[in-house]
Amino acid sequence: MADATLVLQDVTKSFGAVAALRSGSLTVRPGSIHALVGENGAGKSTLVKIVSGVHRRDGGRFAFQGRDADFSSTAESKAAGIAVIYQEPTLFPDLSVTENIFMGRQPLGRGRRIDRARMHSEATALFDRLGVALDPRRPARGLSIADQQIIEIAKAISLDAALLVMDEPTAALSGVEVERLFAVARSLRDEGRALVFISHRFDEVFDLCDTVTVMRDGEYVSTHAIAETDVESIVGEMVGREVGELFPKTPAPLGDVVLDVEGLSSAGVFRDVSFQVRAGEIVGLAGLVGAGRSEIARAVFGVDGYDSGAVRLGGTPVARSNPRAAIRAGMAFVPEDRRKQGLVTEGSVARNVAGVIRRGLTRAGLLTSAAENRAAAPWAARLQVKTSALDMDATTMSGGNQQKVVIAKWLATQPRLLIIDEPTRGIDVGTKAEVHRLLSDLAGQGMAIVMISSELPEVLGMADRVLVVCEGRITAELDRAEATPEKVMHAATRTGPTPGSTPTATEEVPV
Ligand SMILES: Nc1ncnc2c1ncn2[C@@H]1O[C@H](COP(=O)(O)OP(=O)(O)OP(=O)(O)O)[C@@H](O)[C@H]1O
Ligand SMILES: [Mg+2]
Repeated sequence: MADATLVLQDVTKSFGAVAALRSGSLTVRPGSIHALVGENGAGKSTLVKIVSGVHRRDGGRFAFQGRDADFSSTAESKAAGIAVIYQEPTLFPDLSVTENIFMGRQPLGRGRRIDRARMHSEATALFDRLGVALDPRRPARGLSIADQQIIEIAKAISLDAALLVMDEPTAALSGVEVERLFAVARSLRDEGRALVFISHRFDEVFDLCDTVTVMRDGEYVSTHAIAETDVESIVGEMVGREVGELFPKTPAPLGDVVLDVEGLSSAGVFRDVSFQVRAGEIVGLAGLVGAGRSEIARAVFGVDGYDSGAVRLGGTPVARSNPRAAIRAGMAFVPEDRRKQGLVTEGSVARNVAGVIRRGLTRAGLLTSAAENRAAAPWAARLQVKTSALDMDATTMSGGNQQKVVIAKWLATQPRLLIIDEPTRGIDVGTKAEVHRLLSDLAGQGMAIVMISSELPEVLGMADRVLVVCEGRITAELDRAEATPEKVMHAATRTGPTPGSTPTATEEVPV
């Protein structure tokens, strides 16, 4: 067997009193795609950040390509041949796409001037290889998460790295984009590079990877050949306890109409969108990434405007383009891109959770830390936010735990209508069931819920009614009983499979 590209053995790392890694171990060989799995806060990203030089380990062994390694900056790890795609894209919004790719190592032309033409054509060549049409000259600002991910990947490939680490790269990608990413990953593997793939989606792990290492509570648990294990045993090792049933939506009696959206249109974005949501009802918005689901949600909540139509809550019109008015009227909105939209802010977990209550419901009132803690505690507990303390800084939490804080933050406002975009993205398998149970309970207590999800099983399992959005229009409305993967796929794509034909969808295919 070839010598390992990466060896981590009993690596430890603490941040103050928090032991993020107690004993992290991972051995990755060339020509292999190695999955790293574990619950939110298990230490996966921390291990990656030690490899990439963001953090330095406290103890244990770290070797790269047969030599002891200890990087004190990301520049050092890059120079050694390690590329990392982080959980949160780290692009500079004001620089061009090309500048982001070649950041800090621009090819120099004559007179040692930066050779822009050469950079742009190299960027274009990278995008060709990735099969995407992106303008290398445009600024990174305003790009979709998928496109930002693509740029990170292009950057990694351009480094010609021996080791490529991908920390939840697919969380924001659509099915087609995931396939494209996997094709690139496989070709890198076939060139003999070593890859590490972190994901909470087991279908992807089993599809792409040949080996899997499980972590729990900062410790190494096991390593298996993918062919010799299965989802159930991996989940068992990850969680170390029984996992609740996913999608436990229980039928709730429906009450009055809470949300009434009538003829909502926004030029070039969505057209003539009408639907109602009743108290106790979960309405799922299904569709392809980019179909306009999130845009509709943002317009209803008032983050974006719209050209014509009306939004009513409990029969009362809600002012356009005014999220404050929406919050006062009783709406809550958990957006898709929780970090970028500034919802996890500097400051304690409790302050993050209590922040919306403070802003929305009290008039410039100052809450004491104690009051914030009291308001935040039950929600944080319910969502299993793993922190050492509620006064911990929310920005240092693991990716999945930040997601949970954002959800907790909005639930604490006790809304009449909850709009939640990708409720379980980045959330581990154990908590996923908890989020589903929570949504079901909230509906049972009479909350109206609009849920956007790219995971077909989640939509079909949780929604009382499914609205399918395609190219900015609602193309199907399906009751829980009649909604099937085939029907949803058919309405979501113009070229999709016709109802009754064999679906290409497996368990967790995003629609
Ligand atoms: N800079 C930091 N300061 C304090 N604590 C930290 C810091 N970075 C990570 N932690 C803590 O270390 C633990 C491990 O976090 P890490 O981000 O490695 O988890 P993860 O396995 O990547 O989880 P996820 O699946 O949610 O992304 C968490 O409890 C987290 O709060
Ligand atoms: Mg992480």
